[in-house]
Amino acid sequence: MTRAPLCIGLDVGTSSLKAVAVDAHAVVVASAVVEYPYETPQPGWAQTDPEVWWNATCAALRQLLREPAVAGAPIESIGLSGQMHGLVLVDSDGAPTGPALMWNDQRTDAVCARAEREITAERIWQLTGNRLLPGFTAPKLLWLREHEPDRVRRARTLMLPKDFVRLRLTGAFHTDVSDASGTLLFDCANRRWSSEMCEALAIKCDLLPEVFESIAASSHLHAAGAAATGLPHGTPVVAGAGDQAAQAVGTGIVDEGCVACTVGTSGVIFATTNGWRPTARGTLHAFCHAIPNRWHLMGVTLSAGGSLRWWRDTMCADLVARARAENVDAYDLMLAEAACAPAGCEGAIFLPYLSGERTPHADPFARGVFLGISTRTTRGHLTRAIIEGVTCSLAQVMNLVRESGATTQHVRLSGGGSHSPLWRQLLTNALGVPSATVAQPHGAAYGAALLAGVGSSVWPSIDAATATITESNQCSVESASNEFAAIAARYADAYESLAPWFRRGAAQSV
Ligand code: XUL
Repeated sequence: MTRAPLCIGLDVGTSSLKAVAVDAHAVVVASAVVEYPYETPQPGWAQTDPEVWWNATCAALRQLLREPAVAGAPIESIGLSGQMHGLVLVDSDGAPTGPALMWNDQRTDAVCARAEREITAERIWQLTGNRLLPGFTAPKLLWLREHEPDRVRRARTLMLPKDFVRLRLTGAFHTDVSDASGTLLFDCANRRWSSEMCEALAIKCDLLPEVFESIAASSHLHAAGAAATGLPHGTPVVAGAGDQAAQAVGTGIVDEGCVACTVGTSGVIFATTNGWRPTARGTLHAFCHAIPNRWHLMGVTLSAGGSLRWWRDTMCADLVARARAENVDAYDLMLAEAACAPAGCEGAIFLPYLSGERTPHADPFARGVFLGISTRTTRGHLTRAIIEGVTCSLAQVMNLVRESGATTQHVRLSGGGSHSPLWRQLLTNALGVPSATVAQPHGAAYGAALLAGVGSSVWPSIDAATATITESNQCSVESASNEFAAIAARYADAYESLAPWFRRGAAQSV
């Protein structure tokens, strides 16, 4: 029996590599996940050996190809998505010149401050529509130039995480417009590299990979990529997208009006714009969407689900063990404890700045804080304080999106945080608009598969590919949202009070 062709989507995530296979009805027929850690050699640093991503890609693809629904089926095309802003430098043999600096790495604060002074924040905004923030790619290159110049001298090309995987699959040095936007070397308005920005930072343009629209089938699997993964030689690989643009495609955030709120390791509010509309002073990121002629505004809470994972791994070992014994998810047990604590946690507050903060504070010195603890505080209170704190941060981002004039009628929640009914309701109240989740949970990997399908003409457009996405878990704003306003005000006040302390703390730790 001949099998129907499939498209494969890959997402090179922060803590795992996900692979999905999607049929011509846009239905996920199989998926595979391979987890990996990353290194934090100093507070505020985050790095990985890119080979970890490649090994996970090979393992996940081999696992996927063994699935009964995939084995023997023709593979139409592959789409790539991945964590944004990472810096991978490869030499002329395509070998990494050292570990990749990741999106949540904050070591470049001094470099950013100097560049914003010398080039001026105003000029950087004119060229890119954005602020030069420590997590972005360009300052990482400047940091390495100062601290590890040999790594930069040996580099042939600057790559983003998913593009390193592409290099191994196809031999091509390519990227796409949405991921290129997050380097801060990109002229997002005109969807091309910014030679002016490169010149301002004294970066040679020939270090940059060739850039394509996300749906372009820009390369094909070469013999080595095919041998390593088990996929057929010659399979087209589309340019793909940064994980947030791919997530937006995978959850149907392709037009103005509906906003994405994704609670993964990071927390993201993402609004599609049909024109290029950067915000004044770059309060939100303004990047290219994975859809030709569309852009998006975005703000990022660096440690969203990441805060809860940290809490699980450091303070909830008993629940992890119980979850294993009962074959349930440890997060469900943690959230059941949180549900016993009252809203506002009897005064306990959590500021989720474990890796500094991006939006709205752009503060690499901020750190996580529990505040307002009393003898009545239990672990459940603290777990609830974590989800309330992350929710407050996302609500602050949503307010910036509103102030930008973007339409925010409805929110689609996705990512691990959206699995909890408690967290879904808190987010809905805090964001102040009705929400829903989408029926398929594969986010960015699914979006990458849809991009692959559009690139190989399975669907005529991204709008057509995403037309079948359906909603579930509809949730409306409760009157309890007034209660949330008080929590949000205390949260905002806590950061303002502590910001000078964070700055002094940073000065003392060096
Ligand atoms: C987006 C961002 C993160 C990473 C990891 O700007 O920094 O969402 O892409 O998911």
